[in-house]
Amino acid sequence: MKINSKKLVQAAAQARLGSVSPYSKFKVGAALLTNAGEIIGGANVESASYGLTCCAERVALFKALTDGKKNFVAVAVVARCDGGPMPCGACRQLLAEYAPDAKVFVAASDDLKKIKKFTVKKLLPAAFTLVP
Ligand code: THU
Repeated sequence: MKINSKKLVQAAAQARLGSVSPYSKFKVGAALLTNAGEIIGGANVESASYGLTCCAERVALFKALTDGKKNFVAVAVVARCDGGPMPCGACRQLLAEYAPDAKVFVAASDDLKKIKKFTVKKLLPAAFTLVP
């Protein structure tokens, strides 16, 4: 299927508005695309116990998975930083497990047209899995 990276990045930018980040003030949005054409957004949620914070990518993934969505073909991530936010290691692991074949689009919120493109496999080669 033809993936509209621009549309997915825009969805991530929209999802970013839901960020709950009172500590870092760093708003991140993510949007997943399924092979059925559905888009599921998520944003980072922070805790006063900082380590409990959940990144936008994982919020989007958990929302999607618990709504029964699967077969993710792409994920977009947007934040206000140069070149856009690269997914952290924890998110790469979860993406490798639940969206192993997905493309990854990254963009800065003030320059949504400049989209960096990766794949989950490129971002986390030789990922750990229990189920082969
Ligand atoms: N964050 C994400 O949402 N995604 C990432 O891939 C990296 C970091 C969030 C977590 C925290 O709320 C804020 O960015 C600052 O680290």
